[in-house]
Amino acid sequence: MRVTLADTLPAATPCDLLALPVSEPGTLGGDAAAVDKQLGGRLANAARADGFTGKRGRTLLLHTLDAPFRRTLLVGTGNGRDAEAVRRFAAVAARQAGGVQAGRLAIAVPAGEPAGAAGSPAERVRAAAEGAGLAGYRFDKYRTAEDKGPDDAVLLAQGDRKALEGAVGLAGIAVAATCRARDLVNEPANVITPAALADLARDIAKRDGLGCRVIELDEARKMGMGLFAAVAAGSDQPPKFIVLDYKPASGARDSRTVALCGKGITFDTGGYSIKTASGMATMKTDMAGAAAVLGAMGALKELAVPVRVLGIAVATENMISGRATRPGDIVRGLGGKTVEINNTDAEGRLVLGDAVAYAVREGVSEIIDLATLTGACVVALGDHTAGLMANDQPLADRLLAAATASGEQLWQLPMYEEYAEAMRGEFTDLKNSAGRAAGAERGASFIAAFAGTTPWAHLDIAGPAFAEDRKGPPYVALGGTGYGVRTLLRYLEAAGR
Ligand code: BES
Ligand code: MN
Ligand code: ZN
Repeated sequence: MRVTLADTLPAATPCDLLALPVSEPGTLGGDAAAVDKQLGGRLANAARADGFTGKRGRTLLLHTLDAPFRRTLLVGTGNGRDAEAVRRFAAVAARQAGGVQAGRLAIAVPAGEPAGAAGSPAERVRAAAEGAGLAGYRFDKYRTAEDKGPDDAVLLAQGDRKALEGAVGLAGIAVAATCRARDLVNEPANVITPAALADLARDIAKRDGLGCRVIELDEARKMGMGLFAAVAAGSDQPPKFIVLDYKPASGARDSRTVALCGKGITFDTGGYSIKTASGMATMKTDMAGAAAVLGAMGALKELAVPVRVLGIAVATENMISGRATRPGDIVRGLGGKTVEINNTDAEGRLVLGDAVAYAVREGVSEIIDLATLTGACVVALGDHTAGLMANDQPLADRLLAAATASGEQLWQLPMYEEYAEAMRGEFTDLKNSAGRAAGAERGASFIAAFAGTTPWAHLDIAGPAFAEDRKGPPYVALGGTGYGVRTLLRYLEAAGR
């Protein structure tokens, strides 16, 4: 969907559908009040008759064929006054416009009334553009016939044109990057192989002038990446350890380098610690961390991110064969740490161990990893929230702030010493699994051992990476969500400022 900006008044905007926000308890204010006046009180009457009270996500559709806007949609925003309320309002509008085949949608961006509404006009326009853009996403390439959604959304807002246009531009970059990540997650494992991810990384590098290194299995083994090699051992698809290197064009304003590490298991059978059929059903999505990293890396140049960013996507299948790793096998990771693989289904922490060790060896200033790491994190936080674990509180705090700005739900979990103790092996430095208690934190502690003293944060995105129902935010469709891309971009945008 194309999202543009206009400063016409809602009442004078020709369109197929005009969306107006209404907060609780349903008293029409701002643009809705002005439009209602023009319509001789029809909106207020209809709202009263239908018991529309502005409850979040509720809508009321009216045909207003005599006005320049052919239909009017009231969208409840509840008591939300933050950017996320605006994002969700615009998403509900875009979704409904698709449902009524409205070609041109106009969205009245709330002006921040009543007083106390958070954010600048540019922040609200940015949120509205994100909400509408993300809600317009479809993964329909495998459908021979599909219904089409609205092609055009125009955001109606008053204020400094340049600032507002800039906000729409930033939103567009973030939406495109998120939707690329969604596509990667939605594509099946017979299409998105490790080699396909490597090809995509090369394309991004070529287009945006990034450095790109793809480490093949033989070389990875020689370098000492025994954990990555152990996960890949059972697969016929050649694994790829993918590194993208972004350097700011105008010379770094800051000498920091941020490493992003994404878990890229293109299919997770569990290996010999095999999953159940239902547990395996969605495991094409186990590369969502790598998808988020690649999605974000492809947006850095356009956003003119001011710090160097190393994007690492560790891509391999976790399969079974005569060459596959057995439970109990002992291997050595990059840097020499020994690991007993007592559960081949705890493979994410293995590949990330080597990725994080690689980043440390490259001398980066900080590391952020994203991984669909544990079912335990889904049990703890649910389907729409990622877990954050870190060895450095300032880094965690900056990520939490970025997540608040992006609207992606992120909640910090502890990193007590006992979790690290639980991951100590009987005969080795580490084992990769240890019982059911504190599954997300113990998994994170395993990865933390490879970060050492480098500031490191881990986002366990097993819950929000993939939507199995439509109970999440209205801008998220079934399937891959692109979770993490917008938080990473917010974080990197602010880095070095
Ligand atoms: N990819 C899974 C985690 C997962 C589960 C992601 C459900 C999305 C939805 C991961 O590789 C895994 O299997 N983790 C194990 C770890 C355990 C063996 C220590 C898990 O969560 O059961
Ligand atoms: Mn697994
Ligand atoms: Zn996995």
